[in-house]
Amino acid sequence: MQGREFAWTDADFDRVQALIYKRAGISLHDGKHAMVYSRLSRRLRDTGHQSFKEYLSWLESTDGAEWQEFVNALTTNLTSFFRERHHFEIFAELLKARPSHPWRVWCSAASTGEEPYSIVMTALESLGSRANFSLSASDIDSKVLATASAGVYRAESMKGVSPAQAHQFFLRGKGANSGMVRVKPELTRLVDFLIVNLIKNDWPFKEQFDVVFCRNVMIYFDAATQRGVLERIHRVMKPGGILFVGHAENFTDSRDLFTLKGKTAYERV
Ligand SMILES: C[S@@+](CC[C@H](N)C(=O)[O-])C[C@H]1O[C@@H](n2cnc3c(N)ncnc32)[C@H](O)[C@@H]1O
Repeated sequence: MQGREFAWTDADFDRVQALIYKRAGISLHDGKHAMVYSRLSRRLRDTGHQSFKEYLSWLESTDGAEWQEFVNALTTNLTSFFRERHHFEIFAELLKARPSHPWRVWCSAASTGEEPYSIVMTALESLGSRANFSLSASDIDSKVLATASAGVYRAESMKGVSPAQAHQFFLRGKGANSGMVRVKPELTRLVDFLIVNLIKNDWPFKEQFDVVFCRNVMIYFDAATQRGVLERIHRVMKPGGILFVGHAENFTDSRDLFTLKGKTAYERV
């Protein structure tokens, strides 16, 4: 196509579509040409390739670090603190009902960390600072997980966080860091960050979870992939455990695994 830095054809798009589906389960529909071109152009520049055809052939011939970069470039990581707030209200009630229970929670598409830190803030507020609580926070994207574990954010991204929570759980940057906030260690010490690919059968968990957050990621998967992920989540959850999903996600077809309990909250059968 004219005016582009790199040659880009329908065949290149089809190849990217097949590769990201196989690696991450992400179904890229045909309207995503411009997005894919712009996100992957940087990879061509960084790896010194002159065309998509050349880059993709090289990628397919390696088993190295570029695969992670390829996946990182194609994921969509939009998130925010206390997104879909009603889940945190339900979650707080669950925790308060069993304050001495050893809670094990998994945030399975943690992105840049706003969601797992919202979970931990809710746990500390509901259970107190001596909470018997642990959170595994994972994502397929290594870059967003690095941001999540650093726990440093722009102050303006804190819209969902109340002033009292900001005071209790964040440190304000000074001098060169003004305008930034950092999550306090009392939150980060409760979170274990790790890479987990939802579509693979190699999840590292030994114990079962009481609660799983899997929000706003299944929308990128087709129905067969969603069903496979639900079956695997079912296996790593305790019976009666609660699964929170995103507002546009509906799994009522899988009622053999999960039954709807409330707005986008399911109970593990
Ligand atoms: C739109 S964000 C949602 C973040 C957060 N759960 C929320 O609701 O705000 C989707 C996240 O899913 C991750 N993701 C995409 N495919 C994945 C896969 N196969 N395994 C694990 N995470 C995946 C992306 O990297 C991205 O960070």
